[in-house]
Amino acid sequence: MSVFPKDFLWGAATASYQVEGGHDADGKGLSNWDLFSHLPGTTYQGTNGDVAVDHYHRFREDVALMAELGMQTYRFSISWPRLLPQGRGEVNEAGIRFYSELIDELLKHNIKPMITLYHWDLPQALQEQFGGWESREIVDAFDEYARLCYQRFGDRVELWSTFNETIVFIGMGYMTGAHPPRLTDPKKGIQACHHVFLANARAVKSFREMGIDGQIGFVNVLQPNDPISDSPQDRRACEIAEGIFTHWLYDPVLKGEYPAELLAMAQQAFGVPYFVPGDEELLKQNIVDFIGLNYYKREMVAHNDDVDGYAINTSGQKGSGRELGFKGLFKLVRNPNGVYTDWDWEVYPQGLTDAIGRIVKRYGNIPLYITENGLGAKDPIVDGEVRDQPRIDYLRDHIQAIGAAIEQGADVRGYYPWSFIDLLSWLNGYQKQYGFVYVDHNDSLARKKKQSFGWYQRVIATNGEQL
Ligand code: BG6
Repeated sequence: MSVFPKDFLWGAATASYQVEGGHDADGKGLSNWDLFSHLPGTTYQGTNGDVAVDHYHRFREDVALMAELGMQTYRFSISWPRLLPQGRGEVNEAGIRFYSELIDELLKHNIKPMITLYHWDLPQALQEQFGGWESREIVDAFDEYARLCYQRFGDRVELWSTFNETIVFIGMGYMTGAHPPRLTDPKKGIQACHHVFLANARAVKSFREMGIDGQIGFVNVLQPNDPISDSPQDRRACEIAEGIFTHWLYDPVLKGEYPAELLAMAQQAFGVPYFVPGDEELLKQNIVDFIGLNYYKREMVAHNDDVDGYAINTSGQKGSGRELGFKGLFKLVRNPNGVYTDWDWEVYPQGLTDAIGRIVKRYGNIPLYITENGLGAKDPIVDGEVRDQPRIDYLRDHIQAIGAAIEQGADVRGYYPWSFIDLLSWLNGYQKQYGFVYVDHNDSLARKKKQSFGWYQRVIATNGEQL
């Protein structure tokens, strides 16, 4: 018998900028990524999402493939500037129509939509008007956008999440400078992160006030941290890293407060986050219904006495994920015994069971969805077939890791591998593939099922029994 509950949801995920294309179609406004990806030296060989895999124009064909795969749910994000070209105010009805038709098409095939409101594509107008996430004004703007989405789609969509991976768009946007707005300013970053938590709380509040029949959650990446050695210094370094990478990002949305020790450290070092009266209540009173957990890898931690700064990159490779650290506190290091992908990410399925266990231990048995998990690789084409056995192995081991967590009592309700289709990797172009469906960039973006497609089809059909 399957360890997965009968109503467990099997799906897959994508995000607007990575699949849609149609960057200026039908009245869509400019996003921060539309601008950033066209600046020299920002992305792999200058790749951008102008066309991406043209999901904007081909969504019916894509949904047909999702249905053939047997997907029961689909996680996608809404492009804020497609609905509100200037970020606020005038609504682009063509943008509403696109998502509305996508939702109807999914429902027609019995696929439950899960909407992410913010997967990093900010209306550039808001960046220019008041500095985007740096300003408190973003909280009202985000609430206006969220309310518009609830109003137009809330009758048909039950599963919502406000944000995707704060650590990435804030950490890379404001600490390492690898994402827009390209800053290396921890003070601004910590305050911007505070505005994300406030915006989340306001959007959760509106969701409930508007009586939307569904659940609203927050999606975070979770990379469990383990110390590289048993020394007290490395263990302490690991505690701090875990505090920053996990507790700082989960506590405000699940407990309505920051971890006290780290809050004191941040305020002493940088004078932020800066609270105004009302912030604390807002956070406390608007706890999310579930957590969406994205899991790819674990990161080992060592005490850091040598590498200077906070954007330190101990890997030397762009996008390895080992860019953030703090002199005197910690750095992220390679596991000498680990198995790594071509992009230097540790393959460690046990880490997913650990990640779920750590969430349950700290926050209780809250509902969880695994909202991303997958292997980024260059898939070989043999005799015209896309052979992605390493992806099958990766996903199988991670599904088993989820099964183990469920057996230990965790309330995991669904699984969304990243990604449904090969899409744009923010900094790695189209060469880092994750999908069940291959897209031929030399043949007018034709779709082709990979080896993993048939495999996942069986997994879903047997509710995870046949892996
Ligand atoms: C997650 C993001 O961080 O990782 C996705 O939510 C992203 O949008 C995925 O594509 C994989 O990252 P990368 O860098 O391999 O594309």
